[in-house]
Amino acid sequence: MNLGGAYQTKRPVRSLHNYRILLKLCDEVGYRLAEEFFWHNPAKLPSPIEWVNKRKIRVKDSVDMVWWLSKDDYPKADITRVLVPYSERMQKLQTDPEKYYKPKLRPSGHDIGAGFAVDNGGAIPSNLLQIPNTESNSRYIQLCKMLDVETHPARFPMKLPLFFIQMLTDPGDTVLDIFAGSNTTGAAAESLERHWIAFEQNRMYLLASTFRFLDKEVSESEVTELYHKLLVSQEPTRIGSTKQPSLFNI
Ligand SMILES: C[S@@+](CC[C@H](N)C(=O)[O-])C[C@H]1O[C@@H](n2cnc3c(N)ncnc32)[C@H](O)[C@@H]1O
Repeated sequence: MNLGGAYQTKRPVRSLHNYRILLKLCDEVGYRLAEEFFWHNPAKLPSPIEWVNKRKIRVKDSVDMVWWLSKDDYPKADITRVLVPYSERMQKLQTDPEKYYKPKLRPSGHDIGAGFAVDNGGAIPSNLLQIPNTESNSRYIQLCKMLDVETHPARFPMKLPLFFIQMLTDPGDTVLDIFAGSNTTGAAAESLERHWIAFEQNRMYLLASTFRFLDKEVSESEVTELYHKLLVSQEPTRIGSTKQPSLFNI
């Protein structure tokens, strides 16, 4: 669950709604907070303008919370699928361990022994996910521009759903995004060979989201034709990779 923070109306005081939701989900519904993540988006614009830009009494809020909630204590997870590149220091240490550290037991209990310098294919990621939201030239954006369709104003960067889908699911699993918007989550799931289902109340967002799933070879005129066909269709809106080929049956 990704919930950005917010200020109370006309007050430089934060709303606590996101924390209340978390407490409710855990205390009343029975979820566990498996781990909290912080999505740092350095490209986030300063807001609210009144408190940050004009009066300059609050700093820019550039972190969103992402809560990993689970139904039991051991939800499926494998962090070795989301390892990150080693730091420069660690790379040096791996090439010449004796020069850079002495094996010893740290007060924290970490045994910094000979195995410490072993290359495990990458470092363990932290719960601070630094992902700028700067996508500007994707096929989705290009096709929205071509058809003069508004792009979704609050899209995820692709790397955000990719991280969680990779860590928490296997190929063939089904990923559901109940607030799908432009369906970045579905596109991420499909690229990792997971099935996906998208719920979105705004039909126009859902229609444009189909651009994410078109083959590169599809011509501009075919895209235009498809979009207009979907636009006038009176059928209930339903898309999902588990219902192929209903993707184009909106
Ligand atoms: C922040 S956006 C999600 C954007 C998405 N992550 C993306 O990458 O495009 C939240 C979306 O939830 C949708 N939404 C809000 N309430 C909803 C509801 N009750 N049922 C379905 N969709 C809803 C909004 O229309 C909006 O598009």
